[in-house]
Amino acid sequence: MNSYEYNDTERILDALIEGALLVKNGFIVNVNNSLLQILEYKTKDELIGNLATGVLIPSTTEKFLEFNKHLFQEVTLVATNGDLIPAILKIQDINLYGQDYKIVTILDLREFREKDSLLYKQSRLAAMGEMISMIAHQWRQPLSAISSIIAKLKIKSLKSNSKELKILDDDFDNINNYLQYMSKTIDDFRNFFKEDKQKEYLDIKDIIKIAVDMIEPTLKSKKITIELDNQKLDKIFTFKNELIQIIINLLNNTIDAIEENDIKNGHISIKFKTTKDYIRIIICDNAGGINKEIIHKVFEPYFSTKHEKNGTGLGLHMCKVILEKHFNGSINVKNQNNGACFYIDIKI
Ligand SMILES: Nc1ncnc2c1ncn2[C@@H]1O[C@H](COP(=O)(O)OP(=O)(O)OP(=O)(O)O)[C@@H](O)[C@H]1O
Ligand SMILES: [Mg+2]
Repeated sequence: MNSYEYNDTERILDALIEGALLVKNGFIVNVNNSLLQILEYKTKDELIGNLATGVLIPSTTEKFLEFNKHLFQEVTLVATNGDLIPAILKIQDINLYGQDYKIVTILDLREFREKDSLLYKQSRLAAMGEMISMIAHQWRQPLSAISSIIAKLKIKSLKSNSKELKILDDDFDNINNYLQYMSKTIDDFRNFFKEDKQKEYLDIKDIIKIAVDMIEPTLKSKKITIELDNQKLDKIFTFKNELIQIIINLLNNTIDAIEENDIKNGHISIKFKTTKDYIRIIICDNAGGINKEIIHKVFEPYFSTKHEKNGTGLGLHMCKVILEKHFNGSINVKNQNNGACFYIDIKI
């Protein structure tokens, strides 16, 4: 190729969204900027002259993916930092200015995968919601039957002259409280899994109370105390269940950290700060904080340090996506005192 022809080819390659390689006899002759970005190389020279098979490593199992009604082979690419990148590629013979080449175009699948698994997580939540609804439905009748039996027994015991039966009075009240609590829990969970369709006019503090109630038994069993700011807040138009989901995610992370670091007096504080534009929810714990080296990564999808617990690393990422998409808001984290503080800003 003459140099002006070479420049034309390069300009066309650089205009593509996909990563592209021009290959002659198995060796890389040119690559485009998108490929450099995908594989995190700095200059084209690092790739040009190498064998194409050194960069493009077929996945162990042959997988074909349908994309825009065509079948493509799925491959795994190796980035400079060693990351494995799922991709699909298309190879085509091409004659440029009288010479035969192969042009290989590559589509990075990472973003698609991420969307897939968020969708998967959300559809699992939806299925769980339906199951809870069914349990709620099937438990309602027996729970109220037990409740009325207890009420009858209570009346009998009050009327009877037997001392022993009278002593049972407190027990009846306790049973009743437990029953009420069970119905309330199941209603809370059922409402939580219902899809939020419309914004409601709500007090953020009440929403947080619902989230705290939902995980209260876990907090109790691990002797973790929680302190909720009592300041009065103005009601705002907002999505209830999505906010509950965010708070539960954060509280669960704290519980994990308290357990992992063997903190004896686990404590969580939830405070508010309001300006005319937003409400800030500040959730701090005393679980030791997040390592400096990783703190900037915790909102990335799939970032998790809980390998033995099978953490998906999607918890905080979901919080961030939901806040940005539905609340016009943001979430940030800082280490403070002896723990982590998460700052949630919701636009009013
Ligand atoms: N309060 C906290 N204290 C210490 N580390 C935390 C805290 N919250 C989050 N982290 C760190 O951030 C990482 C990412 O959290 P994230 O909720 O996204 O995923 P995960 O909890 O590991 O997995 P999943 O939420 O899917 O179970 C955690 O693995 C943990 O290392
Ligand atoms: Mg989590």
